[in-house]
Amino acid sequence: MVVAVDGPVGSGKSSICKLVAKELGFVYLDSGAMYRASAYILQHLNLHIDNLSGALEKTVFTFSDNGGRLSVFIDGKGVDVTDHIRTPEISEITSSLIAKNTAVREILVAKQQEVARMNEAEGVSLIADGRDMGTKVFPDAQCKIYLDASPEVRAQRRLKDYQRQGLDTTFEQVLKNLITRDHDDTTRVESPLMVANGAVVVDTSNMTLEESIQAMIDVISSK
Ligand code: DC
Repeated sequence: MVVAVDGPVGSGKSSICKLVAKELGFVYLDSGAMYRASAYILQHLNLHIDNLSGALEKTVFTFSDNGGRLSVFIDGKGVDVTDHIRTPEISEITSSLIAKNTAVREILVAKQQEVARMNEAEGVSLIADGRDMGTKVFPDAQCKIYLDASPEVRAQRRLKDYQRQGLDTTFEQVLKNLITRDHDDTTRVESPLMVANGAVVVDTSNMTLEESIQAMIDVISSK
């Protein structure tokens, strides 16, 4: 089974999906981390965006559970980019440049579909989160969920993440940045964020993490 989860920045997708995957014994695919890691590669190798897709074709993305935290590697276990890809600068490059690029999206979508095929061949279910999981990458997914929350709640959650990383920012800055990213995500020509056909909308604004996990499990179990 494939569970396709979409939603805006800070809707809690990654935290929730990672724990739901653990609870149900599913593999978790964090597609946003692939877009972020692509921004890291662009910056790190000082590439022009037109040359990024060539580099990405050869890149192997690997995820591993590191004591409850998802570690992200590029080139097998070669380079651990976990911390590098969560900075405000990488978020900005990802949303303004990487996520809009058709060639990059084609490569990442193919890699995501390949992950699903490999797991399906082994009889393992997959939960994948992002912006276009239910609309583009897995349009035939048995279960589609759209996770949402109010901009203020999402900004507060992001602020906590940044504070945990020791980054110096304010609620106002995070909220402003989030609204810009929502705008980028929903208005881009290529695979904009939207509620997929057949998706169940789960609003986590007033839910704790545990309640959100349970709400997701309830939807998945009903399919
Ligand atoms: O979910 P996230 O914040 O880690 O996503 C990072 C960026 O990548 C964000 O700008 C949206 C973009 N993205 C996308 O365009 N398509 C996806 N499937 C996942 C993320």
